[in-house]
Formats: sequence, structure tokens, C-alpha cells
Amino acid sequence: MAYTTVITETRGRVGIVQLNRPQAMNAFNTAMLTELFDALEAFDKDNHIGAIIVTGNEKAFAAGADIKEMAEASPFQMITEGRVELWDRIRGIKKPVIAAVSGWALGGGCEFVLSCDMVIASESAKFGQPEITIGIIPGAGGTQRLARLLGKQLAMEMVINNRTLTAAEALHFGLANRVVPVDGCLEAAVAFAEEIASRAPLAVRMGKDAVNAAFETSLTEGLKTEKRNFYPLFSTEDQKEGMQAFIEKRKADWKGK
Ligand code: HXC
Repeated sequence: MAYTTVITETRGRVGIVQLNRPQAMNAFNTAMLTELFDALEAFDKDNHIGAIIVTGNEKAFAAGADIKEMAEASPFQMITEGRVELWDRIRGIKKPVIAAVSGWALGGGCEFVLSCDMVIASESAKFGQPEITIGIIPGAGGTQRLARLLGKQLAMEMVINNRTLTAAEALHFGLANRVVPVDGCLEAAVAFAEEIASRAPLAVRMGKDAVNAAFETSLTEGLKTEKRNFYPLFSTEDQKEGMQAFIEKRKADWKGK
């Protein structure tokens, strides 16, 4: 697939999508957003891929939605052009998506990171929701995902007073899984993703779905979802193989079946 605003690459069982509008700090225009999700969906359908990384460059993961593209938009255009809904395509991706973040992750860039399943941040990463400085608020899930992840007080400060988080703060507050040196950030993310990609694919998929359910529902309903995802795994070859391999003290050979 010939993309113009993202670059895709495969390393082993890991698919990588690099945001590629360096001249605009990787601001998401409609073209880049569309290509990003096309690429993610293509990796999601590819049986050879077990985990996906989204990354930017050293200066910016992404500086948000493209302000120049939406500066003159009316509410009607924002609704009818479907630009905001585009962001929801991340929710349809079944495989784990890992954000590898260096530099700025601002506005929609931060919101996209929050929509990913895990985050590898380099020491230069900075996360924020500066929409308030241009007279709007986050529109791609930031208010809800930050409040759920960080709690009300810190989310409020980020949304209505442009508080940014350093990589160390992101790790401390649970927004990042690891902080790594800037040099080698992508390699660290690939190693992290390869480990996930080497695991039983159906169990990974069910696990992702079950954890995500925790953000949608009550504990009772969430526990039901967990069980709905747990029991069917006993019908898979991988469950038989995984438990037999444990008993025989050998490495499991996953089939994804
Ligand atoms: C369009 C952007 C951009 C953006 C940067 N650029 N961010 N263009 N949309 N979000 C462009 C600049 O205009 C400039 O282009 C070039 O990228 C380099 O940026 P500089 O500002 O010169 O770089 P620097 O001084 O290093 O500052 C970096 C920065 C700053 C801190 C990231 O660019 C910045 O504050 N950007 C805006 C961040 C922001 O407000 N994000 C929220 C957007 S709203 P030229 O042509 O001048 O060289 C949003 C809502 C999401 O995300 C809702 C979704 C539905």
C-alpha cells in the first residue's frame, strides 16, 4: 500500500506505523489520520502480525489535530465531514497497539496515545492537552480517558490549564509502561511488542478485550465479560498446547487456533 503521510514496516511479527508529517510536527490532518487507521486495520487483519507499534519522530509523536485544517470549520462541517469520528477507528483494532513516544504528544496526539493499549515513552516525551490555549477542549476522548486513567484532579488541570506531563510523570501516573532513552526508543518498543507477539494470539485478543471492558461497565458486568472471554479459550488448541507444554516443561508452540 502506497501511503504518503505514514510509513509502514514489519519487523518479525511486529507491524510498525510511523507518522510522517515532520514539517507539521506530525499534526493529524484527515489524510494522515485515514492512512494511519488504514495501516492499523491492514496489520490487524494480517495473521503474521501479533502486535502493532505507532511511533513518530524524535521531536514529535504528534502535535495534535491539524489546526490549519480545522481553523475555519463550522460545527456543521466538523459533524458532517466525520473528522472527529475517524478517531474512533482505533477502538476496532483487536491486536495490541503500542505507542512509542518521543517528544510532543499533544492534543489529539496525546488522545491517540491514550487510546493505545500500552505506551513506551522516551525520556524526551511530553504529554498534554493544550486545546484550551486555542479556545477548544479535547474532542478525541481526552477528557474521558485522562479522567479514568489519572483521576479527576490531574485530568482537570491538563484539560483546563494545559498542564503537561514529563515522561517520568507519565510513568509515575500510569500513562506510560516504560521510560527508555531517546536513542533506541523504537527498538525498545519493538522488543516489548515482540514479547507480546510471541504469546498465544487468541488469549492476547481476549485479554485486550476484557481489560478494555473495565472502562465501559460496572464490576459485575466486567466480570461477566471476563468469563465470556475466559471459557471459550478452553476450546482452543493453544490452551491444550500451553498447558501440556507447561506439564512437559517445554516451550509452547502457538497456532493461533
Ligand atoms: C498544524 C502544526 C501543529 C498543529 C505544529 N504545527 N503543530 N500545524 N496543527 N497541531 C506546525 C507549525 O505551525 C509549524 O509550521 C511547524 O509545525 C513546526 O511547529 P513550531 O510551532 O514552529 O515548532 P516548535 O516551536 O518546536 O513548537 C512545537 C509545538 C507547537 C510545541 C508542538 O508547534 C505547538 O504548540 N503546536 C500546537 C499544539 C496544539 O495546540 N495541539 C492541539 C491541537 S487541537 P510552519 O509552517 O509555521 O513551519 C487538537 C484537538 C483534537 O488536537 C480533537 C480531535 C477531534
